[in-house]
Amino acid sequence: MALDEKTGVWKSGKGRGRKTPKGRQLSDTAWENLRALLGNRPRRRDLLIEYLHLIQDEYGFLSADHLRALAEELRLSMAEVYEVASFYAHFDIVKEGETPPPDLTIRVCDSLSCELAGAQALKSALEQGMDPAKVRVLRAPCMGHCDTAPVVELGQNHIDHATVAKIEAAIASGDTHAHMPDYQEFGGYLETGGYSRLLELRANGDWEAVQEQVLASGLRGLGGAGFPSGRKWSFVRANAGPRYLAVNGDEGEPGTFKDRFYLERVPHLFLEGMLIAAWAVEAETCFIYIRDEYPAVLTILRREIAALEAAGLVAPGFIDLRRGAGAYICGEESAMIESIEGKRGMPRHRPPFVAQVGVFGRPTLVHNVETLHWVARVCREGPECLNGTEKNGRKGLRSYSVSGRVANPGVFLLPAGSTILDVIDAAGGMAEGHRFKAYQPGGPSSGLLPASINDVPLDFDTLQPLDSFIGSAAVVVLSDQDSAKAAALNMLRFFEDESCGQCTPCRVGCEKAVKLMQADRWDQPLLEELCQAMADASICGLGQAASNPIRLTMRHFPDEV
Ligand SMILES: Cc1cc2nc3c(=O)[nH]c(=O)nc-3n(C[C@H](O)[C@H](O)[C@H](O)COP(=O)(O)O)c2cc1C
Ligand code: SF4
Ligand code: FES
Repeated sequence: MALDEKTGVWKSGKGRGRKTPKGRQLSDTAWENLRALLGNRPRRRDLLIEYLHLIQDEYGFLSADHLRALAEELRLSMAEVYEVASFYAHFDIVKEGETPPPDLTIRVCDSLSCELAGAQALKSALEQGMDPAKVRVLRAPCMGHCDTAPVVELGQNHIDHATVAKIEAAIASGDTHAHMPDYQEFGGYLETGGYSRLLELRANGDWEAVQEQVLASGLRGLGGAGFPSGRKWSFVRANAGPRYLAVNGDEGEPGTFKDRFYLERVPHLFLEGMLIAAWAVEAETCFIYIRDEYPAVLTILRREIAALEAAGLVAPGFIDLRRGAGAYICGEESAMIESIEGKRGMPRHRPPFVAQVGVFGRPTLVHNVETLHWVARVCREGPECLNGTEKNGRKGLRSYSVSGRVANPGVFLLPAGSTILDVIDAAGGMAEGHRFKAYQPGGPSSGLLPASINDVPLDFDTLQPLDSFIGSAAVVVLSDQDSAKAAALNMLRFFEDESCGQCTPCRVGCEKAVKLMQADRWDQPLLEELCQAMADASICGLGQAASNPIRLTMRHFPDEV
């Protein structure tokens, strides 16, 4: 029996009695529908986001009644369910009397590479040309297809080099699903000797020897922080089990698409690397967190994890694939862990570090997808596959995601000592009619550098003296036809949208910066004061680095601001 059918008085006082407790009442119909949808899935709190996806996928939105029913079913407060559902951009909450979104959503990427390629004009044309009752047009942050900008997501179909005509044709033919790339499946990977190294290690391997190999290769965290990869393993092992491994496949830093590049081609190299790392730290479960913007990758991984289970290489459930829900901040490792636990992606205060207190409070090894791809290669081919390359005094290789005003955007695996000129060269030179003016070396967090700084290796540590850093090696090239000021504003708009709001310097600082940066002339002393507060007093890397585009634009492009 639902609560609203119960009789009783929930508040005393003459004439003031209520038959129900305060708050939204449970609807029996919504509850029944929800239970049918969940079937025999476990009623675990950490699966909250997965279940919100189930409802959103089934009905196209989240009704308040379904949220209330989900709270009941998971034994959570409505507040907890609501705060999670409203945190993530890919969930649409619809209350009574509100109109649900139309069946079709077009998300137009307006991050830097797409903006350079005309995203604003495309969005305006779509808004004018589409019937809002049938199609809704939303702006969205980078979708990791920057090499084919401008990009829109129609349902789950990413349309590259998007035009109104292409989008209309896709709508007319019902082409709204993810397109699957050709990739190396489990059988193909086995034929190349895949998983034999893992099996050898599991049979009689020495984890410390493997860690030494990884350290000798020079492999550093490719999620952006550049922490020596092998060294993390002993930190995690120093804490008593049970331990977990969590893979960061959130890849939200605008301009970055290298993880998608590898996952859509050779997913098993990453999976073998992950299983080797899991073996090394004796992880009980491997969580793989993949952004919702990568539906094809999610399908590939579901299939290939099933193949690993069928082959007996992992026990069912050992790999737990999780789907993000449209929040860049979930790429920050502690926010990702919160999200894996079914919560809002709010970065945690440190210490304790995730190696000590991670998923469910247990020691957790967090690695980026590409880092694990290289763990497999180092274990299979030896450390020389990385440290055997040397250029400009730097050792190793770097996967640069290159977009913007170059002739052939894409992912290029180059020596880590490559300069911006080498990177532009690899991408076929500048696009026709464009002259090199500036570049973002590693996502918006790294700011903007002028073309005159063209002899610095784009590697870890080399850009710090310039108050920048390589991060995820997301290189966006600007030309004489672009405005550095507009590019910096684009970056700050992104940070303003994606700030989790937890700390005031970041939440208010990004918003205030965007307002100040829209002026014809920037109030530079005020912006500098703001930058200092954000860099000094924000909890996580988003707020700490959001000032980089502002400061570097003031320093290198004073005429524009
Ligand atoms: C705001 C912010 C966003 C981040 N986004 C990502 C991301 O999308 N993918 C990623 O692997 N690391 C990201 N990181 C870095 C992670 O916090 C973490 O350092 C990384 O996942 C560790 O793995 P690695 O050592 O293999 O690089 C981000 C960090 C910050 C501060
Ligand atoms: S710096 Fe920004 S994103 Fe990071 S915790 Fe604070 S408000 Fe959230
Ligand atoms: S997909 Fe648009 S900037 Fe990356």
